[in-house]
Amino acid sequence: MAKIKKQFVCQECAAISPRWMGKCTECNAWNSLEEKLVQKQTNRLATSQETWQHVDQTELLRLQDINYSEADRQLTGLEELDRALGGGMVPGSLILLGGEPGIGKSTLLLQAAYLMSQGLRVIYVSAEESAQQIKSRASRLGFESSDQFHLLAETQLDKILAILEQAQPEVVILDSIQAVYDSRLETTPGSVSQVKNTCNLMMKLSKQQGISSWIIGHVNKDGDIAGPKVLEHMVDTVLYFEGERYRSFRLLRTMKNRFGATHEVGVFDMTHQGLKEVTNPSALFLAEYDGDNSGSVIVPTLEGTRPILIEIQALTYASYANFPKRSSNGIAYQRLIQLIAVLEKRVGLNLSKSDVLVNVVSGLEIEEPAADLGVAMAMISSFRNLPLNQHTLYLGEVGLGGEVRAVNQIERRLQEGQKLGFKRAIVPQKNLPLQVETEMEIIGVKNLMQVLKTIPQSNEKATVSA
Ligand code: TYD
Ligand code: MG
Repeated sequence: MAKIKKQFVCQECAAISPRWMGKCTECNAWNSLEEKLVQKQTNRLATSQETWQHVDQTELLRLQDINYSEADRQLTGLEELDRALGGGMVPGSLILLGGEPGIGKSTLLLQAAYLMSQGLRVIYVSAEESAQQIKSRASRLGFESSDQFHLLAETQLDKILAILEQAQPEVVILDSIQAVYDSRLETTPGSVSQVKNTCNLMMKLSKQQGISSWIIGHVNKDGDIAGPKVLEHMVDTVLYFEGERYRSFRLLRTMKNRFGATHEVGVFDMTHQGLKEVTNPSALFLAEYDGDNSGSVIVPTLEGTRPILIEIQALTYASYANFPKRSSNGIAYQRLIQLIAVLEKRVGLNLSKSDVLVNVVSGLEIEEPAADLGVAMAMISSFRNLPLNQHTLYLGEVGLGGEVRAVNQIERRLQEGQKLGFKRAIVPQKNLPLQVETEMEIIGVKNLMQVLKTIPQSNEKATVSA
């Protein structure tokens, strides 16, 4: 049998070194060497021709001979989780669940594991908590006994893999990848080489045995390098569990999915009895919306395939600094700067003496430009201290010329708005006519100037403006 030996490979230029060094001697990159285990070749390398002669042609498959149907997907029992996965787990796939410590990753997968164990053989590998701790949490969550639900409290990777290979489960959950280690590597648990090695071996096991595997990975606010980020390209699906520490709802976002759409969002509420699914997130996010406030706008966003109404708030106020402050939470900072520039140039809104804060209520990060018009209108509304019509939705991308550009899937967004009682929508002219009928009043606009004509021109009650 080939012997295993250690090598250090530069992540920048792939140069190989027999020992660890702070700096790569080939490309001079710092801290780029990473430990790898390789099989030592005792005899000479076979020529390509010799290798080819041993290749088995039966491995060539015709597309129609491969057995797979969407019906093979395994459901987790949590609809919000299945939605994020694109309709359940694909057998043999490897799913990474990342999130900050304490956000609820273990709780989520423990609940899912219990529900899955009603029909599938599930092993929950806990490398962080003892079996007793998990049992205590399971009792708190109200789980009854389940014959198909097994726990393994272990941190050594080779033991875990050996047990999994023998036990042949259908689903495995590894909690967490930072706590598991391979004793053949010199580095500590949680280091880049350890987590990559564990991920690699879990991937092999899942593919070979058709096990749906989950890996839990912690991320830190300061961007821990050995966190899930380094594993993203290796796994099939990447989900992140997010939320604000002092608010109870949690978002499950799909960052990558080889078997479905990205940007899907699952919404949960953390309660005393574990996570509860939120099937109508728009209602949750609008629960505290006060339409009488200036600077507040509702935008029908699309998260993956799901329309969600989101409140965007802006606050503009007199700045006492040489450089006025701009701060954004939930939309990209650069996008905000661009919109401020467009507002100044195209509609003459001068924010050069005002600080500007923009916040996407809910903790969602809105990446799509379809929310531009909402952000722009929130700033105008705050600057003029002018509440906008609280039954109106704003939708559209704003170009540098101040033009309002078309958005995708407008019908689904507006349907969600209508469902929640909105009466009016300001939308890009280019999106009209709509493909479906709606009871809402739809106003098409070509540019920001036209949007301004749709709002009240002054607020009698307004006393301050900044
Ligand atoms: P946990 O799943 O342990 O987080 P992670 O695995 O991401 O580190 O969640 C821990 C938090 O969740 C903890 O602060 C307590 C809270 N929690 C509840 O509020 N309700 C519950 O029913 C459970 C089990 C946990
Ligand atoms: Mg945990």
